[in-house]
Amino acid sequence: MPRLYTVALLALLSAPSALAAAGSSCVAFDTAWNLLAFNFNGKDYNAGTSDSWASGTPTDITTTGRPPFDGTNTKCYLAQFFNAIYVLGADKSKPNDLYIYDAGNKKWSDQSVNAAGFDPTSYEAILDHDTNVFYAVSKGETFSLDMGDLATANSSAVSWVDGGAAEITTTNYDPVMSVAQNHIFFFGVPGNAAGSASIFVIHFAFWQTPAQAFTGDAFPATHGQATSFFLDEGVQQQIAFIPDDGSKTYIVNVETNSTAALAGPSTVDAAATYFASTTALVQLAANGALSWLPVDPKDASANAAAKWSPVASLNKITGSAAGGGGAATSAGASGSTASKTSGAAGGSAATGKAGSASGSAGASTPSGSGAPSAAVGRGASVAWGAGSVLGLVGIAFSLL
Ligand SMILES: *[C@@H]1O[C@H](CO)[C@@H](O)[C@H](O)[C@H]1NC(C)=O
Repeated sequence: MPRLYTVALLALLSAPSALAAAGSSCVAFDTAWNLLAFNFNGKDYNAGTSDSWASGTPTDITTTGRPPFDGTNTKCYLAQFFNAIYVLGADKSKPNDLYIYDAGNKKWSDQSVNAAGFDPTSYEAILDHDTNVFYAVSKGETFSLDMGDLATANSSAVSWVDGGAAEITTTNYDPVMSVAQNHIFFFGVPGNAAGSASIFVIHFAFWQTPAQAFTGDAFPATHGQATSFFLDEGVQQQIAFIPDDGSKTYIVNVETNSTAALAGPSTVDAAATYFASTTALVQLAANGALSWLPVDPKDASANAAAKWSPVASLNKITGSAAGGGGAATSAGASGSTASKTSGAAGGSAATGKAGSASGSAGASTPSGSGAPSAAVGRGASVAWGAGSVLGLVGIAFSLL
């Protein structure tokens, strides 16, 4: 018996000291594409833009009002119009609460949320760019949560709204979803062929059939992780899908409906999470190690040669080395395409609120989707269910 305890103790001691338990940390970008890393050694950091990750020094941004980060399923989302990071699942004692990190003002607030049937321990979600509404699938049921224009919590609670059953096969399906061009893409849905994704069209609130097929390198019809690349303005147009086996990183372009296979992550970890800026895909492995892949939205040959590298500046501080047998240790990291340098983390990059939001949505017209995107900028609250169709009728009328 004592021996077992010793083994257990040793296991604990040899675990990377960098982090609280896996799942209690997350990374996100602010709108100037600084990498924000929450809950590493109990602290939060701003690691700057990708040009500084090889040898820069992250800034400690730990401050009051932050969540305890004691959850096991912490998820971060960027509300781009508001330069705010929404953090879910970061407070065990208030599992429904959503903490907001106002990245421009470097302030935390705690937004209470009515679960209204939503299970915060079992879901996948995306935050829609234009409407600032969360769309989630939990146990086969759809839910939405309208975040309005919150960069600071309201004193009144916001509520999840049940939108009915998802209209894709959800039995034995752990949803893998990502957003681009106001559509939600579901990867690995049972019955879909490799290279195809099921689609929910947010602004028209309908499930598109059949699944959309993508040309090029077909991503496998398996479970994985997906996250979308931001643009400086407007809706996302490309999604990274990383199958659990880590064999490749698939970049799915929803404008051309084609896919390119890039290098798989150096650290193969089905429990890793991902977050992308405009040009960098970051992996947070379960042991806390961070690595990244430069992705140029327009340069296929650069992408074909792109390699994963550690986010050395942060790994050094947190004691984590990017795993995967040293494959990711090349210092050539910074020979990257990521060049968005915008200095301070000040909240000026995304100044648009409601007004400019709809302006920029209109500027990047969704090809072929026919969505009246200019009219459906921030403020048009839509949801999964039929109720939103009424909302769209209203929008249509307001266009006349
Ligand atoms: C790409 O797929 C979307 C979603 O199905 C569709 O709306 C769009 O028309 C397609 N674009 C092209 C260029 O085929």
